[in-house]
Amino acid sequence: MQLRFPPARSTPRLRARGALAFPRAMHVPFDIAAYLDATLQAQAAVAAGLETGAFTPEVRPADPRHGDFQANGVLGYAKARKLNPRAVAEQLITALPAEILSQCDVAVAGPGFINFKLKPAALLAWLNTYDSAEHLKSGASNFYRGHRWVVDFSSPNTAKQLHVGHIRGMVIGEAICRLLAFCGADVVRDNHIGDWGTQFGKLIWGYKNLRDEAALAADPLEELERLYKAADAAAKENPATLDAARAELVKLQAGDPENLALWHQINAISSGAFEEIYRKLDIHFDHQFGESFYNDKLTQVYDELRASGLAEDSQGAVVVFHPEHPRFKTQPFIIRKSDGASNYASTDLATMLFRTEQLKANAIAILTDTRQGDHFEQLWLTTQKWFTKTNRSAPHFEHVSFGSILGEDGKAIKTRSGDPIKLKALLAEAEERAFALVTEKSPELPEAERRDIASAVGLGAVRYADLAQNRSSDYVFAWDKILSFEGNTAPYLLYAVTRVRSIFRKLGLDPYDPAAATGATAPATTTETALARKLLGFAATLRLTTAQLRPHFLCTYLYELAGEFSTFYAADKVIVDDPAVRARRLLLCARTLLVLETGLHLLGLRTLPRM
Ligand code: ARG
Repeated sequence: MQLRFPPARSTPRLRARGALAFPRAMHVPFDIAAYLDATLQAQAAVAAGLETGAFTPEVRPADPRHGDFQANGVLGYAKARKLNPRAVAEQLITALPAEILSQCDVAVAGPGFINFKLKPAALLAWLNTYDSAEHLKSGASNFYRGHRWVVDFSSPNTAKQLHVGHIRGMVIGEAICRLLAFCGADVVRDNHIGDWGTQFGKLIWGYKNLRDEAALAADPLEELERLYKAADAAAKENPATLDAARAELVKLQAGDPENLALWHQINAISSGAFEEIYRKLDIHFDHQFGESFYNDKLTQVYDELRASGLAEDSQGAVVVFHPEHPRFKTQPFIIRKSDGASNYASTDLATMLFRTEQLKANAIAILTDTRQGDHFEQLWLTTQKWFTKTNRSAPHFEHVSFGSILGEDGKAIKTRSGDPIKLKALLAEAEERAFALVTEKSPELPEAERRDIASAVGLGAVRYADLAQNRSSDYVFAWDKILSFEGNTAPYLLYAVTRVRSIFRKLGLDPYDPAAATGATAPATTTETALARKLLGFAATLRLTTAQLRPHFLCTYLYELAGEFSTFYAADKVIVDDPAVRARRLLLCARTLLVLETGLHLLGLRTLPRM
């Protein structure tokens, strides 16, 4: 199944209020580019006598100098058939339904592009239709309606503290879940905790032999981490300790009640500490099955893969080769270790089956850093073949990978002593730094409010800095940059929100009350029109962001929207005497606020009334 660029479906059952720009019988499409694309393909192409199956219009947002949208699919189509592309484009335009021609200026451009420029009345109709977060959502909910996505994110390993590197999977995962759900998908969030594996031998041995009760009571996760390190060191020094740790693991896997109880206890301590951070960052899960959940589902995996001839025994281990792949033809995917134990690959194969069959996923996304690329490539190759051999249909799969966070020296970020920076400490520092900033800017606000603002700004800054980068790249973490009120940062965008809000506050109006901009007419000045166009671009941005599962596209858009608003606000006075001009501009202010806040919430940021 291919979900890269979700197909356009019927447009929502919403009608422009007040404005009758689109004919009464027609709904104002949320994603106009997709609507034009679908109409060109389905109706115009037929009417113009094109080979419909072979023609893809490829309508995309255009360079604003040329219009709002551009279709460039005619070129390839005409070239392959030795037709004149400009003539084909002309034919298509003539075949367009009347309602499109009445809403857009349509023209052939260059070698055979079709340019669409929405008329001001069409811009107004869209702004009047998508007037609340709920209506934006119902507009976008066509994108993934009927798709169930299982998103596996955060997924840390038990008994280790979360450190700064863990934040990427958490915030990107949460944003992706929110975005997909906003666009109509049924999203199942699974925190696939690494709660099984060889580390438990050493942990249990350490717990039994080295634990410090007082430390365990004071900071349990810290103590578990110390126990693991101490046990690891002891096992390296003394082979007898290593054997003892292995014996503890064997006992655990055989179901020894004491070790099982300890295992539960260790997991509970870990989860409690993770929860604290998830709560702080407003991150949620539906499930937390974890690796251990798949223990009794592994035999089926081994059996089916062997029976279908995909897996073979190799030096006691069970492995899968992929002869068609340049590397994986010799580099095996080890699905069972030579000592008979399961591993990361065995459980992940079992997750693919469970998520497809039990959770009924059409699509599965797993978030980890890019270093696990080979594992997921092998997992996916193996799953496709396995499912084909067993007559199952495979879901769509994405390994949503991300780069590392670097310190200002360009190397992996570390504390001065060389340890990884704990996430808890990083978030506390973010709030402290933001508190100092807020206090400097608005000393008159009561301390409780300054603390609250600082929390939204500080946590928002850390989060946004991560989301605003293309996830595939590494990025440098620098406090001054992420907390700056200038540039593509959380403080800048949160401040932009409060600026728009203050316009309404001055007038004693609620920006979310539809009455705040009643009687608005279509955008008239160049800057009004440019802002209106940018607002409509929210739809295409959501489509692009979800198609690629890259939140930075939404960040860039919101940053540009805030810039477009500033330009408009500098050029067009909003609070003027003329009621018609005022209403027209207030409508743009209200929608800017709506789109900014909706977008920031999708990214997981908390917006503020003032700061
Ligand atoms: N626990 C793993 C790690 O810390 C990530 C798990 C990702 N999910 C999965 N199904 N493999 O690297």
